[in-house]
Amino acid sequence: MCNQKTQDKADYDVSIVRPQMQSEDFKMRGQGMESTRLEAIKKGLLTLHTLELMAMTIYRFQITKENCEFNRQLTAAMCNEMTHYQDFQVKLYEYRFKPSIIRLAYWFVGFAFGFISRLMGRKAILKTGIWVETKAVHHYAELLETIDWDENTRRIIEKDQADEYGHIRQWKKVLDIDKEVENKMI
Ligand SMILES: [Fe+2]
Ligand SMILES: [Fe+2]
Repeated sequence: MCNQKTQDKADYDVSIVRPQMQSEDFKMRGQGMESTRLEAIKKGLLTLHTLELMAMTIYRFQITKENCEFNRQLTAAMCNEMTHYQDFQVKLYEYRFKPSIIRLAYWFVGFAFGFISRLMGRKAILKTGIWVETKAVHHYAELLETIDWDENTRRIIEKDQADEYGHIRQWKKVLDIDKEVENKMI
């Protein structure tokens, strides 16, 4: 069972930054569900929507004006987080819930993390990315485990979680390459 789950997660293609959606992919959801299940789904979606706003804002404010490969990678990551944000906003409305007003506070947290790490430099940007994404994958795992999602929403959450794992791997790789370069210069 556990191996199957790991296998399933590995099946998500994290090279797809923004999966295609067609009109018929949008559905009205929640009909006939028990109120406790709906309440749990609502809480979970609000949490994910809010956290993704923070994630996309962090990357947004980490990008500098420099024409370089690192800014290209940060821009792709920002786009991926914008996709996640869209995913959960769509789900909220499919269930006829509304986004949380307090998510604006998470915009400011994202701005602070993004802007301060940008001021501190590339290493701080990478370490912030790894730290935030690690928190995110744990959060995703907890919500996947504790909430009885509909199948489509579950698959989207799993794909987005796989993306966050992809971001961790990517930033760790860049950090390792930077360390190698640094060591060669000493
Ligand atoms: Fe995300
Ligand atoms: Fe991410």
